[in-house]
Amino acid sequence: MRTLVTLLFLCILCSCGPADAPPQPARVPALSQLPLIPLPAEITDGDDVSYYKTFKGEITPSNNPVIGDAQRYLSERMPKLILPLQYSTRTDMDADAYRIDFENGEIEIQAGGRDGMLNAVKTLEQVLHFSGADAGAVYISEGSIEDQPRFAYRGYMLDVARHFFEVDEVKAVIDRIAAYKINHLHLHLSDDQGWRIEIKSWPKLAEIGGKSEVDGTPGGYYTQEQYRDIVQYATQRGITIVPEIDMPGHTNAALSAYPILNADGKATEPYTGTKVGFSTLDTDQDSVYIMIDDVVREIGALTPGPYFHLGGDESDATDHEDYVKFVNEVQRIIKQNGKTPMGWDEVATSSLSENTVVQLWAHPEYAVKAKEAGNPVLMSPATRTYLDMQYDSTSRIGLHWAAFIEVDSAYLWDPATLAPGLTDGDIMGIEAPLWGETIRSLEDIDYLTFPRLLALAEVGWTPQERREWEDFKRRLAAHQEWLKEQGIATYDTRVLEN
Ligand code: ACM
Repeated sequence: MRTLVTLLFLCILCSCGPADAPPQPARVPALSQLPLIPLPAEITDGDDVSYYKTFKGEITPSNNPVIGDAQRYLSERMPKLILPLQYSTRTDMDADAYRIDFENGEIEIQAGGRDGMLNAVKTLEQVLHFSGADAGAVYISEGSIEDQPRFAYRGYMLDVARHFFEVDEVKAVIDRIAAYKINHLHLHLSDDQGWRIEIKSWPKLAEIGGKSEVDGTPGGYYTQEQYRDIVQYATQRGITIVPEIDMPGHTNAALSAYPILNADGKATEPYTGTKVGFSTLDTDQDSVYIMIDDVVREIGALTPGPYFHLGGDESDATDHEDYVKFVNEVQRIIKQNGKTPMGWDEVATSSLSENTVVQLWAHPEYAVKAKEAGNPVLMSPATRTYLDMQYDSTSRIGLHWAAFIEVDSAYLWDPATLAPGLTDGDIMGIEAPLWGETIRSLEDIDYLTFPRLLALAEVGWTPQERREWEDFKRRLAAHQEWLKEQGIATYDTRVLEN
């Protein structure tokens, strides 16, 4: 069943070789030869080539919520480039699935819903770019792309607690990751070194806890208005924000702001180092749970997405019995505030409540526990997905406690083989975390994120049997050049040398 929602833009185009068309290049690559990342699930090549004239001008995005953001996305990414496009919805497709047909000089986009429309225009942007559409006219091989993701959740985590990043820097990150169909941005908003979001009922969390960061530089925090702005910016580009308040460990910033949260009732000193595992909220204290309820309620009200991440990792200063009691209670608070709890894999040692997402980072056995309890698992194995790991021993920033992760190592793994017995149905998706101990600028973020994120985006999107390293490398080389053209400080990976 197809419903034609809209016929958009100018319908001026000509199929091959109209009188005013520039000469057709000697070789127009087949659709299947374009360097698309992540590789779509299915590409069917046609026999002909179509010519499209492009126009410079403004477009007014539709008010239709299914296609408006997709139109806005494409016009912002390819400013002033107007093409004849048809958008329609299909009830027989999943919401994030789409199809694009290039035929007889027409480009037709069909999608199951808003997410699929956004996914489609992100692919289309790459087709247009790699076909040279910026020049005012373009020849594109005919054929179709039919696509949907392997995993519904494809995430990126930015640690703004170890070093704070301003709103504009976060927006720049959103622009970069959205282009590769990453659809969740997990913000690590608190840690020992800093608390990064205004909480109106506990103002000192940000006012005092936000002052510090690694290196002893000034830190900072987002006002609620700024956080709302980030959420809206992300949403328009197809990205759901996942807020994390890490607890009961990783809490020195909160403990420095409110002594009542600490077992000895004394404020701690601000912490600007990089050790882990030394702090804990007082799990016996009613005020701690009142604070958490207030924090979850305030952040939850600003966050349209379903998840609230409670951290739960490396709580080495918390007795295990207290940890279990604490995580059980915090899951209850999160659910009572209408959100779905997420936690790092240690939370599987508590009694997982229904739907709590367990994020594997170091302990496959906890992922197995989660599966046995019927809970979804998010895959972030540190040895493959941690973007703060160095590429090799010469990388100018980054750590290597888990591994050196070159681009091939980020690409050559299958999330379904990581924990015994887990299959695609148990796995919600994958996420690539960028921890912030060694990053101090957007350039640092770029260096550790790109081009590895492209490998991980494809791991999360493309069917395993379609993924092939040599072909990925061919496509990656084209993207490296494009990333650089956009001013993104991508790392010159040795896998593309020679
Ligand atoms: C973690 O890397 N501590 C989740």
